[in-house]
Amino acid sequence: MRSLVCLLALAGFTTQSLGQQQQQPLYATAKPNVVFILTDDQDAQLGSLDYMPYVKKHLLDKGTHYRSHYCTTSVCCPSRVTLWTGKLAHNTNVTDVNPPHGDYPKFISQGLNDNYLPVWLQEAGYNTYYTGKLFNVHTVDNYNAPFPAGFTGNDFLLDPFTYDYLNSTFQRDREPPQSYEGEYSTDVLAQKAYRLLDEAVAAQKPFFLTVAPIAPHCNVFMNGTGLDANPKFSFSAPIPAKRHEDLFSDIKVPRTPSFNPEKPSGANWIKTLKRQNDTNIDYNDHFYRQRLRALQAIDELVDGLFSRLEDYDILDNTYVVYSSDNGYHIGQHRLQPGKSCGYEEDINVPLIVRGPSVAQNVSTNIVTTHTDLAPTFLDLLGIPLREDFDGDPIPLTENQIEEAHDERQEHVTVEYWGYAAGEGIYDFDLSAYNNTYKALRIRGSEYNLYYSVWCNNEHELYDMTSDPHQLHNLLSTNGLPNATSHIILNVDLSKVVQRLDSLLLVLKSCKGQVCVRPWDALHPRGEVTTLKDALDVRYDYYYEMEQTTRVQFDECARGYFLDVEGPQFGQGTEYGVLRDGLPWYEWV
Ligand SMILES: *[C@@H]1O[C@H](CO)[C@@H](O)[C@H](O)[C@H]1NC(C)=O
Ligand SMILES: *[C@@H]1O[C@H](CO)[C@@H](O)[C@H](O)[C@H]1NC(C)=O
Ligand SMILES: *[C@@H]1O[C@H](CO)[C@@H](O)[C@H](O)[C@H]1NC(C)=O
Ligand SMILES: *[C@@H]1O[C@H](CO)[C@@H](O)[C@H](O)[C@H]1NC(C)=O
Ligand SMILES: *[C@@H]1O[C@H](CO)[C@@H](O)[C@H](O)[C@H]1NC(C)=O
Ligand SMILES: *[C@@H]1O[C@H](CO)[C@@H](O)[C@H](O)[C@H]1NC(C)=O
Ligand SMILES: *[C@@H]1O[C@H](CO)[C@@H](O)[C@H](O)[C@H]1NC(C)=O
Repeated sequence: MRSLVCLLALAGFTTQSLGQQQQQPLYATAKPNVVFILTDDQDAQLGSLDYMPYVKKHLLDKGTHYRSHYCTTSVCCPSRVTLWTGKLAHNTNVTDVNPPHGDYPKFISQGLNDNYLPVWLQEAGYNTYYTGKLFNVHTVDNYNAPFPAGFTGNDFLLDPFTYDYLNSTFQRDREPPQSYEGEYSTDVLAQKAYRLLDEAVAAQKPFFLTVAPIAPHCNVFMNGTGLDANPKFSFSAPIPAKRHEDLFSDIKVPRTPSFNPEKPSGANWIKTLKRQNDTNIDYNDHFYRQRLRALQAIDELVDGLFSRLEDYDILDNTYVVYSSDNGYHIGQHRLQPGKSCGYEEDINVPLIVRGPSVAQNVSTNIVTTHTDLAPTFLDLLGIPLREDFDGDPIPLTENQIEEAHDERQEHVTVEYWGYAAGEGIYDFDLSAYNNTYKALRIRGSEYNLYYSVWCNNEHELYDMTSDPHQLHNLLSTNGLPNATSHIILNVDLSKVVQRLDSLLLVLKSCKGQVCVRPWDALHPRGEVTTLKDALDVRYDYYYEMEQTTRVQFDECARGYFLDVEGPQFGQGTEYGVLRDGLPWYEWV
């Protein structure tokens, strides 16, 4: 290296001018590039973005912030498979983080390794690069059996070291795994991301680079590879880089009304949680600070990526997308640190997009979900959409966002199977194993609701206009309103519940565009596109007398087994949507 520098100096170059030479645009391509930064377990509700100055500078100030962006299954592996396929978990059947119902081997056995975004991008002429965590149980033993398809260059984090902040193992291209014992995971990953970016630029082809660090996920020591039947995990707070470990010493979890509330809240096992004592709360505050500290290395990585995109002079032709697989709760509803619930903390996740023609310094409330990301990526790269997508491209320009206020869907399909792990050091609740539920988040201009049906058939409905922290369940266990007085849109609650439940019945098994336009299944003439439309009095009889099949479960299962998931839409005898080709209310 030294001799190279001397040689260049002799020839009239300086190292400085070598640097400047690299800063020239190496190629000009009409097709845009994408850099996708995918963090792990980052909340949108607990304020994490407020502690990331470079994310603000490069993304929030220069791009569009989708404040109502949601994951559809609030745990990593199912959510990531949704994100890479554009399909809800009930259509991938990768529903868990561990075997047998979900993990890298299940992703493979479902045939998805040949049929997901990186493969489609390569087919369309893109070079694809990835560093960081791909899926759970992608391990030092199975990383090559088979290799993940669709990558031009990769450097994956592997189990059992994925969440070991100070002892990570990465696996590059077709090489054997390499340990980075003692180095800080996000910093190792940053170097890998920069190297892949260099490679991508040198290849002179349009590229898609994913950077997927593990922060602010908790630190996990995993005894066993994850392929074992009973791997033993020990969870602890995330670990920041040394240079960040003293930051934010006065910061605490925001004390919102749902933080460790005096009265129990929620349903099923959540309703049985005991109030946390001061020791537990102090630990949760520590856990929260460790998350913010661990995010600092990611914030620096974001800055590093932007300065390189600028140096290469390709920033104007590159979309940079920032999101996370699922959200996170700490202490809300008395919950220990974790995810897996349907409450706002767990399903609402950051999404920020910057790039050519994307509105700058804009924040919007239009509803978008992780099923929309794969369609969005294909759309913005000019690649035809696939018919089996359960989502739709996200509006990116100011005009598109404006139109979306009137036209875009207002619902999010939320689904979960299996257990909810507490990730702190206190009180792992065994009843959290029955954490299977179907839910619906709906945000229109005149209402803001969350409706859920649990596998033990308990129900929840929160009117988030008056109850943003989801503390007052309006339904009794059997799904009927517990108080007759509650009114939404001037309509009695029982009528609202009929509509919501019918909508959820459609969504829990929807495929393709039905998931985007579920009201069409109930109103085939297309005249109903919102909850407000469906609440029209002329549909009262239809929802009261005809659409009487209810979402329910026969038992709590760990995976997606149709035979215990109760009636399916279109199978009940009362399904009389069309008679003589007309919906009932037209026919009568
Ligand atoms: C972004 O918009 C806000 C107001 O909407 C304004 O106060 C702020 O200065 C803007 N920031 C930038 C970087 O343009
Ligand atoms: C989902 O996968 C499980 C195995 O993990 C299987 O038993 C189940 O039948 C599948 N469900 C559906 C609906 O295909
Ligand atoms: C770090 O990981 C290596 C394997 O990659 C393992 O041999 C070693 O024991 C681990 N070190 C610690 C401190 O856990
Ligand atoms: C890992 O598990 C094995 C077998 O259960 C046990 O013997 C060993 O002590 C464990 N190691 C650690 C570091 O917990
Ligand atoms: C506080 O709660 C934790 C978790 O339930 C428990 O382990 C601990 O013993 C409690 N501490 C005190 C001082 O009560
Ligand atoms: C979980 O649900 C199953 C079946 O629905 C039930 O038999 C079991 O008792 C439940 N377990 C707990 C811990 O609540
Ligand atoms: C019943 O509904 C009211 C709102 O009308 C709510 O404040 C209350 O918490 C609910 N009660 C129960 C037991 O769920």
